[in-house]
Amino acid sequence: MRALTYHGAKDVRVDTVADPILEQSDDIILRVTATAICGSDLHLYHGRVPETEAGDIFGHEFMGIVEDVGADVTNVKVGDRVVIPFVIACGSCFFCQHDLFAACETTNTGPGAVIHKKGIPPGAALFGYSHLYGGIPGGQADYVRVPKANVGPFKVPTTLADDKVLFLSDILPTAWQAVTNAEVGKGSSVAIYGAGPVGLLSAACARMLGASIIIMVDNSDHRLAYARDAYGVIPIHFEKDDDPADSIIRHTPGMRGVDAVIDAVGFEAKGSATDSLMTALKLEGSSGKALRQSIAAVRRGGVVSVPGVYAGFVHGFSFGEAFDKGLTFKMGQTHVQKYLPELLEHIEAGRLQPELIVTHRLALEDAAKGYKMFDQKTDNCRKVILTPGAASGTLGSATDR
Ligand SMILES: NC(=O)c1ccc[n+]([C@@H]2O[C@H](COP(=O)([O-])OP(=O)(O)OC[C@H]3O[C@@H](n4cnc5c(N)ncnc54)[C@H](O)[C@@H]3O)[C@@H](O)[C@H]2O)c1
Ligand SMILES: [Zn+2]
Ligand SMILES: [Zn+2]
Repeated sequence: MRALTYHGAKDVRVDTVADPILEQSDDIILRVTATAICGSDLHLYHGRVPETEAGDIFGHEFMGIVEDVGADVTNVKVGDRVVIPFVIACGSCFFCQHDLFAACETTNTGPGAVIHKKGIPPGAALFGYSHLYGGIPGGQADYVRVPKANVGPFKVPTTLADDKVLFLSDILPTAWQAVTNAEVGKGSSVAIYGAGPVGLLSAACARMLGASIIIMVDNSDHRLAYARDAYGVIPIHFEKDDDPADSIIRHTPGMRGVDAVIDAVGFEAKGSATDSLMTALKLEGSSGKALRQSIAAVRRGGVVSVPGVYAGFVHGFSFGEAFDKGLTFKMGQTHVQKYLPELLEHIEAGRLQPELIVTHRLALEDAAKGYKMFDQKTDNCRKVILTPGAASGTLGSATDR
């Protein structure tokens, strides 16, 4: 089959690789009909995730048709159309029973798990996300093996096109977890750092929940313009504004700051010279730029919700300011399985239209071009969907400029 594989930093290629086979009795084989490139894939693409090896197949946002099932699969049958959560969870361990699927303690049995402290189980394995996260081949491919198929695969109605439901695999539940962690509700004020797919869908969810002020920070003019037009956000360009946190505060009553901030950027945030130097020298794992700004912009007693991925230590984490303000922090990988039924209802009712963020539909064969474009945000790129089986160059590029 054909699959997008890693060959080194900024070098991904579509190669011919062995077809996946059923390995456990509760596995399925899925024929992928649509798969997307995520901001998390960019961390892999930049060579920033340890234990990513040449030949690894990427892709954790995918859906398709069940092609084959193991003897113990009862949740789905051959021919079913399903979306696959990026988190692989067993459904029965301590954490799964508490709906904390991303903390599943049984699925990451890969060699990367040994770096975790002795005796403490790692969190869940993820599709296509390095050997640190289980070494499970991803779904930017013609076919993919899906372990724990009685827990993950989520059937979707045939009336909804792939584009409408594909993001149930990751970024829609991620945005939803981000806004619910941020306690966004009617009349809330919220600032969102990052106008990538996660930030944009967070704005969509916040709007649906009745937020009254949504402020969005990025340095991408086209992403900010889209967010302003589609979700009514107040855009702030962080290269044209010295201190976005200060500007955010100025938009709030009594200059108190926003009720919540969502950091949808993460550890590769464009930062200060110190951040860049510290991470380049590998003295620290993460740029703290977006996080420091989030702490500065939120009001006393507010929430900082962090869907953006972090690794290792963060330079200048202003814990004293956070303590003084009495902040709550909530963060982590998304417990995808928990949110799917309610999000599908919102999509079916038309309250959420996640497909509107898509700008590019490419054949899987053109995936390397898609990575480059999404990484550099050229051609007004916001989100790329890849279609396996289509011939190179046959699908349209931007659909919405
Ligand atoms: N928690 C989870 O389960 C989960 C799931 C999906 C994605 N993520 C993470 O969420 C983050 C966003 O994902 P995405 O798909 O939207 O990625 P993306 O890379 O497309 O978007 C990130 C955006 O942040 C902007 N940015 C960079 N530095 C900034 C700064 N200092 N201030 C404000 N904006 C800045 C970039 O211009 C870009 O538009 C990534 O870290 C990704 O790994 C986490
Ligand atoms: Zn993702
Ligand atoms: Zn579990």
